[in-house]
Amino acid sequence: MALLDIQNLTVQFETASGWFKAVDGVSLSVDEGEVLAIVGESGSGKSVSMLAVMGLLPWTAKITADKIEFQGRDISNLPDAERRKLIGKDMAMIFQEPIASLNPCFTVGFQIEEVLRIHMSMGKAQRRQRAIELFEQVGLPNPVERLNHFPHQMSGGQCQRVMIAMAIACNPKLLIADEPTTALDVTIQKQILDLLMNLQTEHGMGLIMITHDMGVVAETADRVIVQYKGRKMEEADVLSLFEAPKNAYTRALLAALPENATGDRLSTVSDFVSTAELAGDVR
Ligand SMILES: Nc1ncnc2c1ncn2[C@@H]1O[C@H](COP(=O)(O)OP(=O)(O)O)[C@@H](O)[C@H]1O
Ligand SMILES: [Mg+2]
Repeated sequence: MALLDIQNLTVQFETASGWFKAVDGVSLSVDEGEVLAIVGESGSGKSVSMLAVMGLLPWTAKITADKIEFQGRDISNLPDAERRKLIGKDMAMIFQEPIASLNPCFTVGFQIEEVLRIHMSMGKAQRRQRAIELFEQVGLPNPVERLNHFPHQMSGGQCQRVMIAMAIACNPKLLIADEPTTALDVTIQKQILDLLMNLQTEHGMGLIMITHDMGVVAETADRVIVQYKGRKMEEADVLSLFEAPKNAYTRALLAALPENATGDRLSTVSDFVSTAELAGDVR
């Protein structure tokens, strides 16, 4: 049984000129211990599709799907109390906007201990110990003093690492990592990716890795979904995708990698593929 199984997910937002489909009929599934990467340029509906699954979109979003199941259980219409039991525990997300997702009014120590208090039966001392251990795992220097800091006292990269620590605090069965390393420098980025891969192999965690970085895909993913303008363009195991991409947009993403650069500037996707070509290539 798949850990997460989504069939035909559509998310629409109302705009002045009518309904806009941010996600258009996407199906995907991820198994225990599997890493699924979702790639695609900014605005292709990657974040919105996962926020829809987590039940975290504003009420203005119109969501439809044939199926949204977690471990065989329909989670498309969970009552709030049930959803709160699931989110942050068995199913967690590293959000793309780390600062916006931390509460400015509480210390980061309080916030991570709160996650442990709600979901795990741990005493106060145990929670503090676990929080320190998690801060160490995500490479935050001086983890003990760090507990007393407020988000505004920390850099964007440090806030991102606090959020990663919060997301993995309860050893989730499924972790959705939305561009988890964008605000981090290269060495920390490597440490975080290694940490996520360890959790995945040691605990059999399923991981959905949202990224626009094909290098991260190559390093982490078992399977890849390429998304463009809300639609799934291609799905393949990672080797086939890099060796024999079927879709024009996928080929363009690969050609735009720095190591494939020719000439004196980096290529962009639009150098390789026209919008018309993409439109004809959908599904
Ligand atoms: N709350 C919202 N209201 C209206 N449009 C939104 C909202 N959230 C996202 N969108 C739009 O949905 C599209 C997909 O966004 P997103 O999923 O964030 O893209 P990605 O994560 O692939 O960069 C974008 O065009 C974005 O502007
Ligand atoms: Mg996004």
